[in-house]
Amino acid sequence: MRSHWLSEYSLSTENEQRLEKLYQEIQKESEHFLGYPCSSVFDYSALYRFLQFPLNNAGDPYLPSNYHLNTHDFECEVISIFQQLAQAPAGTTWGYVTNGGTEGNHYGLFLSRELFPEGMVYYSQDAHYSIDKILRCLNLHSIMIRSQPNGCMDLEDLREALRIHRDIPPIVCATIGTTMKGAVDDILGIQEIFKDLALSRHYLHADAALGGMILPFMDNPPPWNFTSGIDSISISGHKMIGSPIPCGIVLAKKRNVDRIAQSVEYIGTLDTTLSGSRNAITPLFLWYAFQTIGVRGFKDIIPRCLQVADYSIQELNKLDHHAWRHPYSNTVVFDRPPAPVTQNWQIACQGSLSHLIAMPHVTVAHIDRFMADIRAAQPQIIARSQPFTACETLAENNTQEIIIVGGTDGHLLTDVSAALASVGISIEGLIAVKVEEGTMLRLRVNDRDRALQILNQTLDIGRCYGQSRPFNTEEAAQILSQVEYQAVSGDALLVELEDKAGSLATLMKKCHEKQISIRSVRLLWRGKEKAIVELASAEPTQLKAMLADQALTSELVDLSS
Ligand SMILES: Cc1ncc(COP(=O)(O)O)c(C=O)c1O
Repeated sequence: MRSHWLSEYSLSTENEQRLEKLYQEIQKESEHFLGYPCSSVFDYSALYRFLQFPLNNAGDPYLPSNYHLNTHDFECEVISIFQQLAQAPAGTTWGYVTNGGTEGNHYGLFLSRELFPEGMVYYSQDAHYSIDKILRCLNLHSIMIRSQPNGCMDLEDLREALRIHRDIPPIVCATIGTTMKGAVDDILGIQEIFKDLALSRHYLHADAALGGMILPFMDNPPPWNFTSGIDSISISGHKMIGSPIPCGIVLAKKRNVDRIAQSVEYIGTLDTTLSGSRNAITPLFLWYAFQTIGVRGFKDIIPRCLQVADYSIQELNKLDHHAWRHPYSNTVVFDRPPAPVTQNWQIACQGSLSHLIAMPHVTVAHIDRFMADIRAAQPQIIARSQPFTACETLAENNTQEIIIVGGTDGHLLTDVSAALASVGISIEGLIAVKVEEGTMLRLRVNDRDRALQILNQTLDIGRCYGQSRPFNTEEAAQILSQVEYQAVSGDALLVELEDKAGSLATLMKKCHEKQISIRSVRLLWRGKEKAIVELASAEPTQLKAMLADQALTSELVDLSS
């Protein structure tokens, strides 16, 4: 603090220690920061001195204001840089530095509502969660459009929704780099639909939180900016650019901004933004990044990020995690790893999927450490002395359960299901997980004692069960807690089976014959006559082809008739 009588009020030792502890924790956590799109490599120390002033950018950045401690000139330069990146004509577009991507989306949708108060907003299932909230704030009617499995808005669904509501001006909120999968919505496809349905009054907002700082630096990017007919765009400033304080940029057509402008005598300027007081430091961070790294630097950074993303995909695939990315995205999507990994690493998870984002601070060394943790969290085979080992679970309420671990040659599920089928024992519940050196099965059967007896006879497991238990309760519980995650797969197929002893055995035998390795099996549902099984395989295409084969279908039907 500059010299002032207030400087005698200082922090207690206890509070200083708390701050130090927080600093240490944040420093440690930043080593495991993989799943969120915020770059943590930057050096803005040259700007620290500006923190000693009560800076404020209230009001329109382009107009003089009564509040002189502002950075409006720098903000306007930043806007001009983004106008060039987004090919927004300087004469007809306008912008300001926001508090983040969310505010930019709010602003774009606010302008759209002022233009079409009766409009209907269309946004995809994969749009950022903020869109839903903004629509509630603005009291706008909306329809959520289905997404394709790759995260892009399903244009057939959009076309149908627009066709039904042709009398209402559409406001489409497209995403340029979705949060979970990095998908880019097809802007030109959306425009085509407007044209086909003769919807001349429309508004198109682009949420380009992360993509808006990737696509401008790539060769032949998909259409995303003002040349493709968008009306407004929101880009985050703390993501690829790495502003240490959240911020963003919104650009919009001037004629739409003019509709909402209000003159305010107190600040002596036009109120054209969402917030009143506005951050005046963040425009300096953005300006500084473009004066140092600049367009040339970002053209260098983006391909490096994509190389690290590709390296992660290669390494995850080696570990049997289905991993992929969109060509214009540094977001790598993969099967959700077990809990110890998600607890230790900051990766984002949604259902059975996780992603990591190869931001500038993510290196090959980070990825290698991450892979080592995934490898270490794979369930280990405890007993290897016999081909198969089984023990009952000691879970108190589930006395009909059996765990079997083993089968290094991949026969385990085939043999176990055949053995149970041979004496008509029905499998009520099943999880099969491929572990590092074989398979682990967790079975719920209708007659456990008999099942153990037949498994003992057939699979030679008697010596292990009851005498030298291959693993104790805690170990079993620990393995089982990981099984739930291992069993989830992005490319699982659902198979309907006749609910008869032997159906599963036939299916497994076929997989085995065709050398299709099964990663996980779950009995999802069991009705009176049918059961639905979820199969995940490392060779999903071959598995699909096999399941489509009429010969297999008739064999399954024969078996039950
Ligand atoms: C597609 C998308 N839109 C909007 C946002 C929100 O941006 P911000 O965190 O800058 O408010 C995000 C954040 O991750 C995002 O991924």
